[in-house]
Formats: sequence, structure tokens, C-alpha cells
Amino acid sequence: MCGIVGAVAERNVQGILLEGLKRLEYRGYDSAGMAVQSPEGTLQRCRAVGKVVALEERLVTEPLPGRCGIAHTRWATHGKPSEANAHPHRSGERVVVVHNGIIENHEALRHELLDAGYAFDSETDTEVVAHLVDRESRDGVDLLTAVQHALARLEGAYALAVMHADQPDVIVGARKGSPLVVGVGIDEAFLGSDPLALLQVTDRFIYLEEGDVVRLSSRGGVAVCDAAGQSVEREVQTFEHADGAASKGDYRHFMLKEIHEQPAVIAAALEGRLGERSVLVESFGPEAEALFGRVRQIHIVACGTSYHAGMVARYWLERFAGVPVQVEVASEYRYRQVVVPEGTLFVTLSQSGETADTLAALRFARTRGYLASLAICNVPGSSLVRESDLTLMTQAGPEIGVASTKAFTTQLAALMLLTLALGRVKGLDGGVQAELVQALRGLPGLVASVLKLDPQIEALSMAFAEKQHALFLGRGAHFPIALEGALKLKEISYIHAEAYPAGELKHGPLALVDSEMPVISVAPNDELLDKLKSNLQEVRARGGELFVFADERVKLEEEEGIRVLRLPHVHEALAPILYTVPLQLLSYHVAVLKGTDVDQPRNLAKSVTVE
Ligand code: G6P
Repeated sequence: MCGIVGAVAERNVQGILLEGLKRLEYRGYDSAGMAVQSPEGTLQRCRAVGKVVALEERLVTEPLPGRCGIAHTRWATHGKPSEANAHPHRSGERVVVVHNGIIENHEALRHELLDAGYAFDSETDTEVVAHLVDRESRDGVDLLTAVQHALARLEGAYALAVMHADQPDVIVGARKGSPLVVGVGIDEAFLGSDPLALLQVTDRFIYLEEGDVVRLSSRGGVAVCDAAGQSVEREVQTFEHADGAASKGDYRHFMLKEIHEQPAVIAAALEGRLGERSVLVESFGPEAEALFGRVRQIHIVACGTSYHAGMVARYWLERFAGVPVQVEVASEYRYRQVVVPEGTLFVTLSQSGETADTLAALRFARTRGYLASLAICNVPGSSLVRESDLTLMTQAGPEIGVASTKAFTTQLAALMLLTLALGRVKGLDGGVQAELVQALRGLPGLVASVLKLDPQIEALSMAFAEKQHALFLGRGAHFPIALEGALKLKEISYIHAEAYPAGELKHGPLALVDSEMPVISVAPNDELLDKLKSNLQEVRARGGELFVFADERVKLEEEEGIRVLRLPHVHEALAPILYTVPLQLLSYHVAVLKGTDVDQPRNLAKSVTVE
């Protein structure tokens, strides 16, 4: 993970770099640093342990004036978070480097460079890159060539930005396996791990491709070479999101803001994709209709929250499109001898489009004879989007809180669109299609009503603040929602939480239930309700305290030990989307009560671009 920013500008760049780092903190935040070439030509560096704000404070007393610089916010992979391990790393006084990714052969290179007389100041894998570039640039070779020579020695994944004291106003960037974009300004040029980092200075970007190396120079100079070292022109694209998306507005945390954005972004995810009585199959691209007709099964691959969205989709796709579905976490899938039956569609789900395992799974899948690949993703221009045959953007806008909320519910909306598009091609009853399309249209309004329950959910959260554990139960498509509820709670409040399909309760977890174990259950009014009710009784009989999120039409009374929160009635197929929202709010309020860092929980990062 980690975030990178770079700038070659006609003004001091410290402020630009700092703002970029703040916007990239979601990628890692255990230490940060910056290097700027001073007007006298020396490479000056400032680093601090902790979040970007710690670096900002240090820069007040140790400012870095200059027009060319690079900066980094770190998520430790090699070596603990410390000032010595913080980036930029340097080789003597001449070379500075920031890096995102992992250099897998760093140990062998370190020995080689030690033998060549280089001294190491850190435990990181990155420092070898600084020394390699230094060695390659010894004979006055220009920085681009020196970096290309150094890259030829590296194994692993990287996005890099490099400066050399003897080559003022030049930054060389490179990407392989980790994202990097060039921001095109007016007589200025920038680098960033994603466009968000640079929206304060430009909305025009070049999305570097795998193996690209780029040289930024003064007066907006941008020269790209491809993996073969050939000079290439890359398209400049205008970024579509408004800058305001990266600010918290009136909300206390990004997560809360993003939870409250859900009615609007779910509407955006559906916009232009619903016909009168059915889903517009062309939303998936002009070739989708012909292709969907040939789909006989689906493999869905994703990580984290996105994986839970895939699990929900399995229930929908099998029920409404009649297509067998297999769902798997990407880190398992990519190392398996997977059998691909003829006519299988490969679907990836990802908020960022840069998750290393999901991307590797796609690349692996492309060699396995799938019918086609479809990416359902939130970041336009991301690697996953560029490398897939078909794409459907989830339109959630930038998601900054590490715990995913609006990205998940928009993924679910997009997966319901996929279900209905495939269903349509496969002959799903027109009445059922029309009913679901109608229900989808009403969904943003229902989500807005659930958000109004926030004060009641906040009141419920008090019961969790002192607990060590929690159990989430659900059945059918609500089992993945229970998993997602448990994931949210553990991610941001650090309470150990597990989720079970309610029917599994008596096969083990019931042994854990006592008065110290709150049990949260989602009970929409579907065909499994009666079975769920008996599971709830099993919990109550063991003294467990129950918290039930139930449809307003469900007959379930509050009594001692059973708290019931009523949700508006929703089409049962869409209930998984609606029932996610109170669980997000519950985790949020528990985390606030516990005083954790809601937007940037410990040890996690938003975009996991390393394996
Ligand atoms: C990280 C994030 C999660 C996210 C997962 C997959 O673990 O903290 O919120 O669900 O990566 O990310 P993706 O961008 O592929 O959806």
C-alpha cells in the first residue's frame, strides 16, 4: 500500500505534497516523509513517525522550500514504523526514492550493494532502489536511463518516484503492479498513487500502464516510456469527480459521511441503467447482450467487503438468472488449479480496482479460457477496469474511510443489475423483472428512511462499548450481510466479532453464548423468518442478549433481553442492501464510543496493493 506524491512546479511544492499525502492517508498512515530539492540544489528531507499531521508539524520548524519534490505516507511491510524506515530513502546526498509495493529480491540486492560499499540506514526493501539508482547514474547517465537500468534488477511490485541532486527539476516515476498516475497541470507536472491525491492541482491525468517509466520535468514536461523502453504517448483523461468528494463536509468522520451518501450514490449506480420494466443490458457494454447469452456459469472473485458483496450475488444470480455461481476470495483463487467449465464468466468486484490479489486473480483468469471478464468497480481508470473485457462502474464517488460502506451497497446495487440483465437474457419472467426494477427505484428512498433511525441505533450502541465479543446471525442472502456486519465491527471498534448462518448456531457457536455475548440478527420478512425465530429462542434460552433488526411487518415483540429495531418494509430480494445500513451505523457508533480512529483503524489500509 503506501501513498506517493510528486510535483515539479513553478512554485514551492511543500503545500501541494502535504495536501496530497493527507488525501492518500487511506493507503497507509504509520509514518510520512518528504524530500524537496532546495534552491541551492541540495536534496532536503523531513520525516516523522505517525500520521501526516506529525510531518506537517515538523515542517513548520523545518520547512522544505523548492519547486521539485516527492513525498510518501507509509504502511509498513519491511521494518517497523520508525523514522529510519520512513520514506523517502536516500543514497548518500544524491538520490532520493519513495516506493509503494514490495521488492521481493531485496535481500540479494542488499548483499550485493553492501559488497559494493553502500551503507544501509533502514530495514526497508526500498533502500536498495536508492542505491541501485545511484550506482547506475554514476557516469553522468540521465536519471530516466539510470532508473530503467535499476528497474531491470527488481523483482516484485512497485510504484516509484526518484530524484537526483545533479538533475534538478526532474522526477522519474515507474509502475509495475502498483498504481501510479501523472497529473498534468499548466506548466506543472505531478505524480500520485491515485488522482484523488492531486485533485487540488489538476483534474487531468495520465494513467500509467504496467511497466511504464515517466520523466517529469520543468514547465510541465512529461515523457513516458513503455515496458520495452520505447517512447509512447499516453492519453490524458479528465477526472470526473468533484473535488468536494475528498472533504468531510459537516460530518465528524468520512465513514459517517459516506454512510449518509448512500441514498444518493445508490441512485447514481442505477441511473441510466433501468428501463421501464427491465434492466438495460447495454449498461454492461454493447457486446454484453450477445455475451450474456453464452454465460453458463459465473466465478466471482474479490477481497474483504467486496467478497461479501459477491456472496450476496450468488443467491441472487442463482435464483433469478438460473446460473450456477462460485464465489471465492482472490488470495485463495489465484493459487488454485481452478477448473473452468465452458461458458464461464469471470467477475471481479473491487472498490479500488487496485487490490493486488484481485488484480493477480484477473491476470491469472485471463490465461484460463474464461468466456470473458467483467469488473464491477468504483474507480475509473483503475488497473482492474483497464484490464477487464466488460466493466460496470459503481458510481459511489471516492470512498475515504478505510471501512467500506457506500462502495459495498453500490456494489450490491450493481450486482442486482447484473442479475436482472442476465435474467433478462436467460428468460426471467417479465413480471418478476418489472417488480424488481420497481423495487430498485424505491431503494434510495428506503435507505434514506433507515438513516433516520440513526438516534435509535446510536442508543443501541451503548450496549456494545464494554463488550469483548459479538455474534452476528443471518440466513440466506443475509448470512453475508451478517459477515459484513461483523467485519465492520471488528475493523473499527476492535471488538472480536464473528458471523454465522443462523442454522449453524447449534453446531458450535452456541457454546459461546452467555450474558456477555451480544447477538445481532437481521430478520427481514422473508421465507426463512420462522426458522430464524427459533434460532433466536435458542440464544435467549442461554441468557444471550439479542439485538434484532426486523421488518416492520414482522411479529416479534421486545421483551427482556430482546431489543428489536424496525426497518421499513422492502422487497425481500433487496433486503440485504437495506439491512447493511443499520449494521454500518451500529459499528460506527460503537467505535466512536470506544474512541478508536474510525476512518483509519489500526493496522489496516484502504487499498491493499501488496500481496
Ligand atoms: C481492504 C479494505 C477493505 C476492502 C478490501 C478490498 O482490506 O480495507 O475495505 O474491502 O481491501 O478492497 P477492494 O478495493 O478490492 O474492494
